Amino acid sequence: MRTKAALACLIASWKAQGRSIGFVATMGALHRGHAELVRRAAADNDRVLVSIFVNPLQFGPKEDYARYPRALPADRKLVAAAGADAVYAPAMRRMYPEGFKTHVEVEGLSDLYCGRHRPGHFRGVATVVLKLFNQVRPDRAYFGEKDFQQFFLLKKMTRDLDVPVRLIAVPTVREKDGLALSSRNAYLSPAQRAAAPTLRAALKAGRTQARRRDATPRSVEAAIRRALRGTPLRLQYAAVTDEETLLPSKDLRGRRRLLAAVFLGRTRLIDNLPLEKRR
Ligand code: PAJ
Repeated sequence: MRTKAALACLIASWKAQGRSIGFVATMGALHRGHAELVRRAAADNDRVLVSIFVNPLQFGPKEDYARYPRALPADRKLVAAAGADAVYAPAMRRMYPEGFKTHVEVEGLSDLYCGRHRPGHFRGVATVVLKLFNQVRPDRAYFGEKDFQQFFLLKKMTRDLDVPVRLIAVPTVREKDGLALSSRNAYLSPAQRAAAPTLRAALKAGRTQARRRDATPRSVEAAIRRALRGTPLRLQYAAVTDEETLLPSKDLRGRRRLLAAVFLGRTRLIDNLPLEKRR
């Protein structure tokens, strides 16, 4: 479906039949990570809808909106095979007609980590996801843990604004060498692709440091930095966060998660890793 009206028709008929609706929001150029979200949605719900929309609002002026990979025919096959019943791929001007003025801001969280380096990014994500929720009215929506801050922020948005949907986090799907699948991996040259798993290796070096008795968030971040030294990966940020609040953590007690972003050439990659709970 290309239009809100066509989508509304389908959703109304599903609702009239009493079907539960699972929803997967994507920007296309789909891979096994997205397919996993669709499979989870199909397992839990009577019907599954996938949206494919490259959302201009979440790209900075110097980012890759124009060259973001687009592959609708292949995407449709992939989601159909994973169990999707319908694809919604609206045109940009239909989502944001002339005069569009309203945005959703999750204060505090959108300025940290990825948000600090990508001003306006999470405001764009929250705005489009709320629009999609209002259009699709799903019972459950599935998001990847790969974008951990995004999941956390959307969860906060749905709570704060009483959006009647359950958010479900799906574990990160990886290549054999540990690299998290991402639509942006397609940008990597063969040499960059070979180096890319170093990001996960660096997070694991951080986790190893965190197991030491004398470890602190600073020493964990330093271990991540050290693991990237002499590699083609340039660290943008590494942070030890409290999983309850996603705020930077001052200690390593309780549930903690490492978040990091790197550049490989012009390509930006992110990943995250939970730390074991300390006794
Ligand atoms: P996109 O990057 O296309 O990702 C769509 C969904 O797939 C997100 O929930 C993301 O976390 C999940 N995903 C991506 N790679 C994954 C992997 N390797 N394993 C598991 N899940 C993975 O995230 C967005 O699009 C956009 O910000 C969006 C939410 C659609 C709003 O525009």
